[in-house]
Amino acid sequence: MPEVYNWQLGRKMLYPYEERHPKWQFAFVFNINRCLACQTCSMADKSTWLFSKGQEYMWWNNVETKPYGGYPQFYDVKITQLIEQVNPGGQVWNVRVGRKHHAPYGVFEGMTIFDAGAKVGQAAIGYIPTDQEWRFVNIYEDTATSMRALVEGIDKTGFSRDEPWKMTGSSLPEHETFFFYLQRICNHCTYPGCLAACPRKAIYKRPEDGIVLIDQNRCRGYKKCVEQCPFKKPMYRGTTRVSEKCIACYPRIEGKDPLTGGEPMETRCMAACVGKIRMQSLVRIGEDGLWAEDRWHPLYYAIRVEQVALPLYPQWGTEPNGYYIPPRHSPRGYARQMFGPGVDNAIEKYLVPSRELLAVLQLWRASQQIIFRYDVIPGPKVFETQIHGKRFEMYNDTVLGFNKSGKEVARIQVEEPIYIRPAERVTWL
Ligand code: SF4
Ligand code: SF4
Ligand code: F3S
Repeated sequence: MPEVYNWQLGRKMLYPYEERHPKWQFAFVFNINRCLACQTCSMADKSTWLFSKGQEYMWWNNVETKPYGGYPQFYDVKITQLIEQVNPGGQVWNVRVGRKHHAPYGVFEGMTIFDAGAKVGQAAIGYIPTDQEWRFVNIYEDTATSMRALVEGIDKTGFSRDEPWKMTGSSLPEHETFFFYLQRICNHCTYPGCLAACPRKAIYKRPEDGIVLIDQNRCRGYKKCVEQCPFKKPMYRGTTRVSEKCIACYPRIEGKDPLTGGEPMETRCMAACVGKIRMQSLVRIGEDGLWAEDRWHPLYYAIRVEQVALPLYPQWGTEPNGYYIPPRHSPRGYARQMFGPGVDNAIEKYLVPSRELLAVLQLWRASQQIIFRYDVIPGPKVFETQIHGKRFEMYNDTVLGFNKSGKEVARIQVEEPIYIRPAERVTWL
């Protein structure tokens, strides 16, 4: 099997196809800390693409409550267990190698779904969820857990037995329970498990934007994609006997929606987000297959410069292109097993943001058009305090967002403007 370079793992890994990269890559950052689980994103997606017969159980976008929830139920626990059965040695990160451009989180020394798959004669390790597991899109909604139950649960399920991953206590001694919302769509992975698995070669990654699609004419419903996508994002439709998955609203990305006059537009689920937790863009891929340096691109800045947003389950090896600002109130061990060793740095950056990060974060949901570049106009200092023993200064800077053609599409100040209602409109006077 060929070897490909996975920068999220800081090493090469097995993959059934030779390394090949698109010119641009669809990518997004979700800020977990802001989500209110209103499910507006899920409904926007459902009402656009998934309202027909045979699609009743399908949610390309779902928001699940962690740690108990999952759609399909238990998908992440089961994938982790399957890998650990093949590789009982544990899933370990060597973080001593330092932060380099090609290995920003250290080197992963465990097995990916492809490494484990090779051991059992499959493209990737996986399983097909039962009908029962697909039943609820947000099972255990808002269900909190205690640290004790979670630690015991983790030991029982075999989740991350390796020492650096063990949780030894709660970071919230005052109250030990927690939950948070995890927003999920297809990650349009660099090394998709679904694409690797399909015996019909019905799945392809578009060279222009890295969007991963199932060719509906080639697909014969073998369901290997359902089995070997660890995120469980391809879904089988019984009425047509083919599988379907998130298409990244590609007509909008291509600028086909008349609203933006030919300019690339964010997907439906992103544009609908009430909590302003989502930003999506396209990032440029360099000759070496890594993200080309693009200092004034908001996603490049958040993911590669500040490293405040991290991939979901990078250890599975698909190099997902969905990134998350991790939850600040969950136990660190739990967050680390989901987002890798960059969690402590990311939360620290988020808790006490730099002047530039605070400005850039205002761009989340500032425009329906895709933002490719930002700029910051300095403003006056308006506030200062200490957060966790660190000095924090707030400036009322103005952040600008530009679309693909370089036209300004967003202009926002860090400080929320205050509007005073004119006296004649104040009804209680
Ligand atoms: Fe394929 Fe799953 Fe990755 Fe989407 S998340 S590209 S369906 S492997
Ligand atoms: Fe969360 Fe935004 Fe979806 Fe609401 S619309 S559930 S805030 S991601
Ligand atoms: Fe291939 Fe999945 Fe269809 S494995 S044949 S794309 S159901």
